[in-house]
Amino acid sequence: MRHFLGVGDVENPKALIDKALQIKKDPFAQAHLGKNKTSGLIFFNASIRTRLSTQRAAQNLGLQTIVMNIDQEGWGLEFEDGAVMNGHKAEHIREAAAVMGQYCEIIGVRAFAKLQDRQADYAETVLRKFQQFAGVPIISLESEIRHPLQSLTDLITIEEWKPKPKPKVVLTWAPHPKALPQAVANSLVEWLHTTDYEWVIAHPEGYALADEFVKGAPTTHDQNAALANADFVYAKNWSSYRQYGQVLHQDPSWTITPAKMQLTNQAKFMHCLPVRRNVIVADAVLDSDASIVVQQAANRVWAAQAVLTEILHQL
Ligand code: CP
Repeated sequence: MRHFLGVGDVENPKALIDKALQIKKDPFAQAHLGKNKTSGLIFFNASIRTRLSTQRAAQNLGLQTIVMNIDQEGWGLEFEDGAVMNGHKAEHIREAAAVMGQYCEIIGVRAFAKLQDRQADYAETVLRKFQQFAGVPIISLESEIRHPLQSLTDLITIEEWKPKPKPKVVLTWAPHPKALPQAVANSLVEWLHTTDYEWVIAHPEGYALADEFVKGAPTTHDQNAALANADFVYAKNWSSYRQYGQVLHQDPSWTITPAKMQLTNQAKFMHCLPVRRNVIVADAVLDSDASIVVQQAANRVWAAQAVLTEILHQL
């Protein structure tokens, strides 16, 4: 693997999950793999888990890390080719990415969807420009439309906690006051396609994900029916894809409550975090033994370490 921008970059997703679980058992087995090498983590948006877990994973491999909140600390970047740069953007991505590639052997980039122009967001412009100009491997720390380190983590977590070989996983939309990208849901769906699990996407009308991700996966507008016999309930909000970036409604009947969890096969509750309590999910679920959101977040380290290990072996 040279780059990690999505599941398409992974030759064998199941093998990568197994590798992450192996690393979890023995985190320092390759403590010198990254010696004398540096990873740069470039954030256009806020983060807790992605930043800290990727930094910790790098540390476990002896890899130095530089972190930059480029939206707050860097020059305004221009991404358009041929732009006449007489406005507020001081540097072009062509130079900025190329220079960062001189300082780092691997670069991770986080750039959320702006939710204004679907075509621009779905082109993953920021990450693809880094890939084009940095000259070093690029890891997605969440792009406009994908969050592959999260999805890898999610499958690692399901593998750890599944009560049967082919568990039932429900990805359900849940309400949220702000317009959020579709990245986590898109990405989870993309990775679920590589499994032999039983799985279903539940969302209200108007919140269908892009066909390029759904690819005919089972989908329903009936959350309660979807939850029947579920082993995992993965709640996530996303804004509308078709009415791009809009919050069509915040239907509270889609909040995950103890009554909803009663419909399941004693399911575990998952969420990528951060989560809005009593909007996405009731306190009584999040604070119960059914919730594995902290264990899930802890697995972010092993996902990042597995990916860094694969890339370092290729350098
Ligand atoms: N789940 C996740 O990516 O968390 P952060 O936004 O805090 O990194």
